[in-house]
Amino acid sequence: MTDIVVLGSTNMDLVAYVEKPPQRGETVTGREFRTIPGGKGANQAVAAAHAGGTVSMIGAVGNDAFGTRLRSTLEHSGVNTDHLRTVEGPSGTAHIVVDDEGGNAIVVVPGANATVDHLVPGDEVLISSADALLLQLEVPLAAVVASARAARAHGVRTILTPAPAQPLPPELLAVTDLLVPNEHEAATLTGRTDPREAATALLDSVPEVVITLGSSGSLYATRGAQPLTVPAPRVTAVDSTGAGDTFVGALAVALGEGRPVREALAWASAAAALSVQRPGASASMPYRSEIETQYAS
Ligand code: RIB
Ligand code: NA
Repeated sequence: MTDIVVLGSTNMDLVAYVEKPPQRGETVTGREFRTIPGGKGANQAVAAAHAGGTVSMIGAVGNDAFGTRLRSTLEHSGVNTDHLRTVEGPSGTAHIVVDDEGGNAIVVVPGANATVDHLVPGDEVLISSADALLLQLEVPLAAVVASARAARAHGVRTILTPAPAQPLPPELLAVTDLLVPNEHEAATLTGRTDPREAATALLDSVPEVVITLGSSGSLYATRGAQPLTVPAPRVTAVDSTGAGDTFVGALAVALGEGRPVREALAWASAAAALSVQRPGASASMPYRSEIETQYAS
């Protein structure tokens, strides 16, 4: 089994489903409202656990009702929450509008996630025994860098999703093994909109890159080899929230099991394709048997 540690955010996603999102100053009537556990960190943890990994989460929830539900959702998915702190104040929330094409717009209010700005005793020991450390950018950079350094010191593979998009400090790139941006994030990081060009540029900073291309699949690049594009299954999306997180969680499990890159990417795409066909982030993440069935088809 692949042993995975995720350091990152937990958010309660407050989701309104609408035909068309409102413009500034406009009010529209939504069809439905749901509260669904999310946050990029927790999403990756749930995705990896469902995909068959042994997963622990480092992060924080608030001492509110959302925090209780966020923690129990992770536990229900089999994620170890011993390193998930409960802190004074509100949990993180994500205010999401999902349109009829399955696209979204999101405002994240960090809440408790803002307190995840350092490692506490025990976190490094946890990281040291993992096969991979999964990171995103919804908790303060200081903790992301500290945990990536701990991973590097112990020979643990670091997989970074640079989302929400923002420039990355060189000291973080220096301890990143695999960078997994989407097209938009790759463009923000490199100034290049062509994924192949962006991937080539990113290889100056990290040894391996996967750019997720939505319904077009993903592109893998490593130094000294031709980039590899792996298509995604054709599906109709109802809610793509957390699709990238599903991809990364499943990818980490597949790579940890020693699957060849092409196969691991196809497997991760199968997981993401399943998740976009159901509403919600963590609530839509497929189990290993479902991924295998989709992958085989
Ligand atoms: O990546 C998707 C996630 O981003 C959502 O679950 C939401 O919480 C935001 O953080
Ligand atoms: Na979904």
